[in-house]
Amino acid sequence: MFNLNAIIRPNVQKMKAYSSARDEFKGAASVFLDANENNLGSLAGENYNRYPDPHQKKLKERIAELKGVQPDQIFLGNGSDEAIDLLFRMVCRPGQDAMLHLPPTYGMYEVSANLNDVALEAVQLTSDFQIPIEELLAQVKPNTKIIFICTPNNPTGNAIETSSIETILRNFNGLVVLDEAYVDFGQTPSWTTRLAEFPNLVVLQTFSKAWGMAGLRLGLAFASAELISVLDKIKPPYNINEATQELALEALTRTEALKDMVEEIVQERTLLMQTLPTLKTVEKVFPSDANFILVKVKDANGLYKYLLGEGIVVRNRSSLPGCEGCLRISVGTLEENQKLLQSIAEFE
Ligand SMILES: Cc1ncc(COP(=O)(O)O)c(C=O)c1O
Repeated sequence: MFNLNAIIRPNVQKMKAYSSARDEFKGAASVFLDANENNLGSLAGENYNRYPDPHQKKLKERIAELKGVQPDQIFLGNGSDEAIDLLFRMVCRPGQDAMLHLPPTYGMYEVSANLNDVALEAVQLTSDFQIPIEELLAQVKPNTKIIFICTPNNPTGNAIETSSIETILRNFNGLVVLDEAYVDFGQTPSWTTRLAEFPNLVVLQTFSKAWGMAGLRLGLAFASAELISVLDKIKPPYNINEATQELALEALTRTEALKDMVEEIVQERTLLMQTLPTLKTVEKVFPSDANFILVKVKDANGLYKYLLGEGIVVRNRSSLPGCEGCLRISVGTLEENQKLLQSIAEFE
């Protein structure tokens, strides 16, 4: 049985959250002399002299409506990278505990584990980039506190089978973190609809991809209210800045435009998927539920350098085990994709 209190680090259980000036005062006032702000104004704009809402109340209410969860099931981070780091700090004792991830996958799980002195266990995905479930369960040790699963997976692009994730959620008594950064581009519904079923489930999403807000840094974690309250306790108090909160609230009124943008990206992805295999240097195009495509080519390093010379940057993933000979290509605009295809054809 999963027991959240049993895996939270003792120092985290004992500590108290920072109490901000705005936490200590509630009610109406017109003169704020409690937070050492600059009351004369801001050189950056109207209200930026004031600290932002540390609880991001309005933003969470709006996101809760959109996602069909409760506001207290949402944590907001300075990018989902902040949520990844805080999850380690919440449950993994440095030098003692371990995490498990499934390469080839997103690199920050490993970086964050290393930073937090958390041992890294890795189970390689199968050749079709699914989870070898028996192998994974056998690899779990008493000190394994978190399993990271990226779905749709970066850099491979595919969604991970629902039944594998269910098995892990049912058989692992630590946190199962499902990173859904690319969920908007695929067919599989979000796991946020199943939070009530699995108390050990944490779902990560981000405004950096489909919403087109990578520059603003806004990531989300969804989990039980109990777990979210611990993340809130250990986060830096003002981790989401005022500009990001305001702009995200505005963006959240444009859900129709979000749908249109995602549709266009998926259409462009389909076009790329159809055309890439017709090029001689392309050996394999992997299926994608994301806004990028993993492509196996005859000479990955050569093509990567050639494209750079043409002013096109793609991601060379050919040195990752499981991705030998592969480039990861983000879906661009129609013009960018045409330029890319033309340049690959010229390389041949
Ligand atoms: C799988 C995955 N998770 C998380 C992130 C980072 O998201 P954020 O910009 O919210 O930190 C990325 C960025 O590429 C990603 O690929």
